[in-house]
This record gives sequence, C-alpha cells and structure tokens, in this order.
Amino acid sequence: MVAICVPEPDDAAALGEIAGHARLTILVWDGSGPAPDGIGEVEFLVGPYMGGAFGPENLALMPRLRVIQLFSAGVEPWLPLVPDGVVLCNGRGVHGGSTAELGLAGLLALLHRLPDYLSDQHHARWDPQRGGPDLDDRRVLLLGAGDIAQRVATAVEVFGARTHFVARTEREGVSALAEVAGLLGDQDVVVVALPLTAATEGLVDAQFLAALPDGAVLVNVSRGRIVDTDALLAELTRGRLSAFLDVVEPEPLPADHPLWRAPNLLLTPHVGGGSSGWRRRAERLLQAQVTRFLADEPLANVVHDGY
Ligand SMILES: NC(=O)c1ccc[n+]([C@@H]2O[C@H](COP(=O)([O-])OP(=O)(O)OC[C@H]3O[C@@H](n4cnc5c(N)ncnc54)[C@H](OP(=O)(O)O)[C@@H]3O)[C@@H](O)[C@H]2O)c1
Repeated sequence: MVAICVPEPDDAAALGEIAGHARLTILVWDGSGPAPDGIGEVEFLVGPYMGGAFGPENLALMPRLRVIQLFSAGVEPWLPLVPDGVVLCNGRGVHGGSTAELGLAGLLALLHRLPDYLSDQHHARWDPQRGGPDLDDRRVLLLGAGDIAQRVATAVEVFGARTHFVARTEREGVSALAEVAGLLGDQDVVVVALPLTAATEGLVDAQFLAALPDGAVLVNVSRGRIVDTDALLAELTRGRLSAFLDVVEPEPLPADHPLWRAPNLLLTPHVGGGSSGWRRRAERLLQAQVTRFLADEPLANVVHDGY
C-alpha cells in the first residue's frame, strides 16, 4: 500500500478515479487540526493551495515522505521546508493558461485604453479621440520562456508583434538573462513571466526601467518582488511608462499605498491563476503524478534550483 495525503476531499475523490487506486491509502489533511491516523506512512503529500505552507512540525510526522506536490507554479514558501531527499513538484500547467490570458487582457486593455473608455462610459461621454497603438510590428520581450511566456508570445504574434525571450538557458530565439540590458532599448512591451528566485528578485529595477523607451508597457503576472515598486511608481508618475500588474509588492496592497492612485497603471489582485478551470487541471495533474509515482516512473514538474 502507498499512503497519500491530500488537503481536500475533492483531491481524494480525484485519486479514487485513477487506475491502480486499490494500492492507495488516501488521507485528507490540510495541516490544520490534529493529524489523521496513518500520517506516519505517508509517502506522497499534496500541499494546500494558497493555504500557506505546512510547518516543519507537520512534515516531521511523515518520516517516509518522498514527494511533495503543489498546485501552484511558485514554490517560494516551501523551499526552506522540504526535507532532504524529498522531491518537490510544482503546478506548472495548472495556472499558466489563465495567467497568460490575464496578462494579454491587461496589455490589450492598456494599449486600447479600455480604462479610459470605462471611465467615459460611467460619465456618458462619447470621445473617440483616444486611438492607442496596436500590436502590429511592435516588439515584445518576454522575461521567461516557460508556460506563461510561450502562451503570451503565441497570442501577440497573432496580432503581428515581434517577440523575443529571455530565460536561464540561451537557445534559438531565447537570450540568457545576462544579455537583457542590451535588449531593453528596443522594446515596446516587456512581459515578466519568471519565477521569483535569488537571480530574479529586484531584476526590474530603476536602471532596467530607465533603459526602456518612452511609452513602453510593462506587464508583470509572475511575482511582485521581481519589480522594484518604487522605481516603477516613479516612471508611471512621470508618464513615461505604463503597466499592467497582477502581482505587486507588498501583497495585499495596503489601502494607503501610492500604487492604488498611480497614473498609467492597471492593477488586479493576484488573480491570474484563480480562474474557475484551475481545479480541473489540478486534478488531472494529481492523477498523472500519482500514476507515475505508483509505476515508479519519473515525475513531471520537478523543482530544481528553486523553481
Ligand atoms: N499571477 C498568478 O496568479 C500566477 C500564476 C501562475 C504562475 N505565476 C508565476 O509565474 C511564474 C512563471 O510561471 P510559468 O508557469 O511560466 O513557469 P515555467 O513554465 O516554469 O517557466 C519559467 C521560465 O523562467 C525562466 N527562468 C527561471 N529562472 C530564471 C533565471 N534565473 N533567469 C532567467 N530566466 C529564468 C525559465 O528558463 P529556462 O526556460 O531557461 O529554464 C523558464 O523559461 C511562476 O514561477 C509563478 O511565480 C503567477
């Protein structure tokens, strides 16, 4: 028998459908309240989504643990907790599509001035003078070349944009992060779709933003701490850049934070991954991962070097 611990009864139901389930013992525990009987046998743990991390004291109850599976793409709070020898897997593919959709929606809304038109609508004002730029022949730099970045790139290319990626590993069409400074002066749009790591924290700082041409648009749908909030605020206030942010630093944004009143900014409260379809995709990932685990096959989405 293999014991698996999941945070929700729905996860247990999803596992009940997979082939080979007769070999599974499924415990439901999200880390709050007393641990269920049999916790010491657990080999595969599913972390609670958006529910914070298990504490080290919870993990210490599972001496046979081999895998921690998360449903989020970002894994930062878990990294210090993962016991030696335990494999951490993230939720890549669960939230990327909806997050890319939101990033694209924010970008298109800014380019086509939808916030201004919404304001006009509220004031019954017919003002067709605001024609904004479109994506045709515009240069879009994607920081990251993973799930989110690839999807945004494919979408903007449909409208004629020219795309280029920056990622960890240099390859055809993808520059290494060390090259990014030399690329910025040519970009109309920069989309941040990187994990938060020691190498990416604060990457989009005052110098980075100053290198962008006037009128450029910054989109951040990954993690707020990759962008220096004060530096961005200064550029927005100056009217030189505009931005769409689904993620900010800090989160939640305090009511008196100047970002709420910043011009040239469209803001959403970290909702990219939260569309209604995520649960279905998470269950499919869980079923596939547990099937691999039972068959002793390599797992997908294994986190290396912090992401
Ligand atoms: N707003 C939301 O609700 C929401 C939802 C989902 C995800 N996110 C965030 O978005 C991030 C990206 O998600 P994803 O699904 O696109 O991830 P992904 O598929 O894992 O792609 C990550 C990309 O980042 C690149 N990368 C990693 N470390 C780097 C570094 N130090 N320098 C340069 N490039 C680096 C990787 O480069 P290589 O290709 O060379 O390996 C890869 O192309 C997640 O980590 C998460 O924090 C936010």
